Amino acid sequence: MIVKPKYAHSSLSQSNFQRISKYILENYGINLTASKHDLLEFRLQKRLQILNIDTYEAYTRFLFSKEGIQTEPREMINEVSTNKTDFFRENQHFELLQKSILPNLAKEFLGKTVPIWSAGCSSGEEVYSLGITLENFKIRYPDFNYSILGTDISQSMIFRAQRAIYPIETVSPVSHTNLHRYFLKSLDTNKYLVRVKKKIRDKVHFDFLNLMDKEYRTPHIYPIIFCRNTLMYFNQETKMDILRKFHERLKTNGLLFISHTESLIKLDQRFKLIYPSVYQKTSSI
Ligand SMILES: C[S@@+](CC[C@H](N)C(=O)[O-])C[C@H]1O[C@@H](n2cnc3c(N)ncnc32)[C@H](O)[C@@H]1O
Repeated sequence: MIVKPKYAHSSLSQSNFQRISKYILENYGINLTASKHDLLEFRLQKRLQILNIDTYEAYTRFLFSKEGIQTEPREMINEVSTNKTDFFRENQHFELLQKSILPNLAKEFLGKTVPIWSAGCSSGEEVYSLGITLENFKIRYPDFNYSILGTDISQSMIFRAQRAIYPIETVSPVSHTNLHRYFLKSLDTNKYLVRVKKKIRDKVHFDFLNLMDKEYRTPHIYPIIFCRNTLMYFNQETKMDILRKFHERLKTNGLLFISHTESLIKLDQRFKLIYPSVYQKTSSI
């Protein structure tokens, strides 16, 4: 007999949807329009289950209670954020780096470490794809050094990124050569898992950073920022504010990579499109 979970009888009322989605918009910038009602209800199910709360009404009360508001938003956002990512997603960007961008960057940073930031890094695949690209470049230019910062609002994604362990099927976009060079297979043959080698892990660092923060306290000013498939969740006003803050954290002539499905047109004139979905900071103001 299938025992239905208790919360399956409950549903997220319109007023509770509005209250929670307003909180998410104001604090995380994620714009959950009315059409996302069912999605939010579905994604919050797990929180009700974990907290052993019967109804969405009781969950909403807990979320906004003095006690709940201290800890629950971070747990909730782990479930609510969309974390889809892949190794070498939109691979043209990695090819572009290898062929056209890194050779110039290596000259500019001669003897110095090139810092790169992946904002909205999810479970780390983008960061490690960058790591692989930079390590391959390093084979030809051994003096080239880099560090990568990956940030996200989802603490559970950051933990996964830090572990750097992935199911073997997720590395299908990685070439055999790169798989051999930069991944270890689980010694337990029943576990179809791989782990990114220490060589790359030592050069990456992950941290919690909410793009809604007033200022970004990153450790560097970057020649390259990746923020792909993330801006799309924000409204125009928030996007413009995020771009202003990226502008501050980019070096003059630094590059901002966004997704091929996104655009900065009409958002910030200080970014100039120089390659498909790659924008250059043109002014230091
Ligand atoms: C779809 S994933 C993109 C991952 C990767 N950049 C890629 O292109 O494959 C979007 C990520 O943005 C993160 N995100 C959403 N809102 C955020 C915010 N306010 N601050 C920081 N990260 C946020 C989500 O947690 C999620 O991991």
